[in-house]
Amino acid sequence: MAWAWAMTTPPNRSTLTIARPDDWHVHLRDGAVMAGVLAHTARQFARAIVMPNLSPPISTVAAADAYRARIVAALPAESDFTPLMTCYLTDGIDPGELERGFASGVFTAAKLYPAHATTGSAHGVTDVANIRPALAAMERIGMPLLVHGEVTDPAVDIFDREAVFIEQVLAPLVRDMPGLKVVFEHITTVQAVQFVTDAPANVAATITPQHLHINRNAMFAGGIRPHAYCLPVAKREQHRLALRGAATSGNAKFFLGTDSAPHAVAAKEAACGCAGIFNAAFALESYVTVFDEEGALDRFEAFASLNGPAFYGLPVNSGTITFERRAVQVPAQIEANGTAIVPFHAGETLGWSFRA
Ligand code: DOR
Ligand code: ZN
Repeated sequence: MAWAWAMTTPPNRSTLTIARPDDWHVHLRDGAVMAGVLAHTARQFARAIVMPNLSPPISTVAAADAYRARIVAALPAESDFTPLMTCYLTDGIDPGELERGFASGVFTAAKLYPAHATTGSAHGVTDVANIRPALAAMERIGMPLLVHGEVTDPAVDIFDREAVFIEQVLAPLVRDMPGLKVVFEHITTVQAVQFVTDAPANVAATITPQHLHINRNAMFAGGIRPHAYCLPVAKREQHRLALRGAATSGNAKFFLGTDSAPHAVAAKEAACGCAGIFNAAFALESYVTVFDEEGALDRFEAFASLNGPAFYGLPVNSGTITFERRAVQVPAQIEANGTAIVPFHAGETLGWSFRA
């Protein structure tokens, strides 16, 4: 057994080649900054699930189609990146709109933001009961539901909001709608890892780079650190370790979703700073470092390139990407078409690079 492992995963291997990866959760924004951040996602990934939390939110087929066209128009000339669009669910969402969008290939999935849970969620769902007809339609047609899994009750401690959401909302939903495909997005807790592991195969989860690298101490290291703040907020070390175990386990239910969420420096470094970590520029370098540290480089392709397409029923990308054990320096700031943004790992050196 040890010999077989050594044959397939040489210690200290210097390169790793995998099928081109996808990002199953990204915020590309709109307007000028979109072109700036999009170039990073398009360099790293072949496809991405694009979040609909614009202002106003993307809740119609026409709005998603127009947003997709703006993204494609902003791509670098040589890029073959494909944006996969999502519908922002509101209390009054018309199930027919979801069905039309899914049937025409404009909507790949729909996103459930509990109202006021996070950035751009003011138009979100106030009670899952309000979208039951939409969820029933999605269950029938096989359209995935993407879930921001946090309760919004201010009486619930912010570090418990994901675990309470599982108990109060997600577990009953999965039980009552056994045919509904559900992606529990950006999971942050051991409870979420356990829930998804134990759930049937129609339930999966994405995991971000930041939740694999940092625990909640990072937000308070020597002072308050707004660039380590995102929602769901990073939790205790035991949770980070559970997420690393899940991501590197080879379990097909766990796949890559960066939740890259750019905000201008001034919007982060403020008395009330925005939630969101911009990780698109070095996302793959960040993830592959985790897999290397966990001795699981041989499982990186499943997490980054195979499990997501299998869940969504899409083909694996053609073409490959090759990583090298070669240091890369992450800049202190990235200029995104006129907007200065502090990236995840700012000022750090990561041990892996890749050729685009
Ligand atoms: O940190 C976050 N930022 N979490 C979210 O759910 C939304 C995102 C954003 O859009 O900035
Ligand atoms: Zn997000």
